[in-house]
Amino acid sequence: IPGHENQGPREVELREVRAVLGECRRCQLAQTRTKIVFGTGDENARVLFIGEAPGKNEDLQGEPFVGAAGKNLDGILSLAGLRREEVYIANVLKCRPPGNRDPRPEEVLACAPFLREQIRSIWPDVIVTMGNPATHFILKTEIGITRLRGRFHQMGRFAVMPTFHPAAALRNPAWQDLIEADFNMLGDYLRRHAAPTA
Ligand code: URA
Repeated sequence: IPGHENQGPREVELREVRAVLGECRRCQLAQTRTKIVFGTGDENARVLFIGEAPGKNEDLQGEPFVGAAGKNLDGILSLAGLRREEVYIANVLKCRPPGNRDPRPEEVLACAPFLREQIRSIWPDVIVTMGNPATHFILKTEIGITRLRGRFHQMGRFAVMPTFHPAAALRNPAWQDLIEADFNMLGDYLRRHAAPTA
């Protein structure tokens, strides 16, 4: 894959990870969810986007970012020169918390192995964490997103770009400006790190 620095032989297939998840009952969210939202996109993606948890529309459809936040995400992806089909999109939690409340630590803990295996399968070059739960999960810090965004952080072999959650940005025009600046920066990064295609 041109410009894909991390990709080697795949250690685990996404469909195997999905099969292990099964009809998961590892936490209490199993009682209230409609559909599990595993994730979607290109399993060879250079860029993996991680959100928080399914919302109402995602819970009904079983697909991540299909509601208003997803529309916003589609728009800002284009600022980075990306289309949804060529990236991979997943969430920290695979099931919707009732009323979209914040994920609880025991839910994040129960779901963590599946996101970790998704990362190990895709081996993206860049991980974009959207919002605090995803950012804290990946960067292992409690520092808030406003202080972490606007630059890349190296985590092992991954370049991590924390940014605001597209749903939060919709409610805050100043954040929307910043998320757009971050996605422009992502586009610059991807162009700078692309390997020659010859
Ligand atoms: N918000 C998220 O964090 N994830 C989704 O899939 C949808 C909205």
